[in-house]
Amino acid sequence: MANIKLKRKQKKDKSNKWLERHLNDYFFIQAKKKGLRSRSSFKLMQINQKFNFFFKGASVLDLGAAPGGWSQISKKLVGRKGKVLGIDKISIEPINDIKFLKIDINDLDSQVTEFFNQKVDILLSDMAPNTSGHKLTDHLKIIELVETAINCSNKFLKSDGFFVCKIFQGGAQGKLLELMKTSLKKIKYIKPLASRKESSEVYLFGIKK
Ligand SMILES: C[S@@+](CC[C@H](N)C(=O)[O-])C[C@H]1O[C@@H](n2cnc3c(N)ncnc32)[C@H](O)[C@@H]1O
Repeated sequence: MANIKLKRKQKKDKSNKWLERHLNDYFFIQAKKKGLRSRSSFKLMQINQKFNFFFKGASVLDLGAAPGGWSQISKKLVGRKGKVLGIDKISIEPINDIKFLKIDINDLDSQVTEFFNQKVDILLSDMAPNTSGHKLTDHLKIIELVETAINCSNKFLKSDGFFVCKIFQGGAQGKLLELMKTSLKKIKYIKPLASRKESSEVYLFGIKK
């Protein structure tokens, strides 16, 4: 009996792994087919399907934008009258009607207000640090990036504007959680289908107070 149970479990694990691999390949292939810059593009589409916050004419600031997948989807969703500014410390191949700036987020200053002339409707952050393999160091780097994204929302996001940020499971605790709660309301979390199951990333959605 125990043997049968073990075999069933092994079969289930195998088919879960198959499904997982298949989904990962699926989003990769679909991104290529649709001419999208990244498979991450699907994550943003799925986040928007859930919270429905994009609207025509919106202004979008995209932090950690390379290679440009989220900016590309944003531009499609905000339409001709919408404006998208993508920021990354590495360079991004140009895309029509999207402005990209190569700059570290910590050095960001007047560029955003100069481009939009006002605070933005939507602030996105899919930023991820280069990992060192040292768990604690990596965890601290991630927390720092999330804190920086929230500080950016305080500077650049309109009141009642929408905030989406990559965080990591177990990341929203202590001081970080307090910071989030002082800046944001209606905080929700989502793990989009296109996000690899083995990755600890989750996304936070919130509205600026
Ligand atoms: C997962 S990628 C973003 C993918 C993007 N959303 C897309 O769909 O194409 C994360 C990006 O964050 C950027 N990043 C990390 N730390 C940064 C920082 N301090 N300033 C600017 N960009 C940063 C990295 O260079 C990297 O390109």
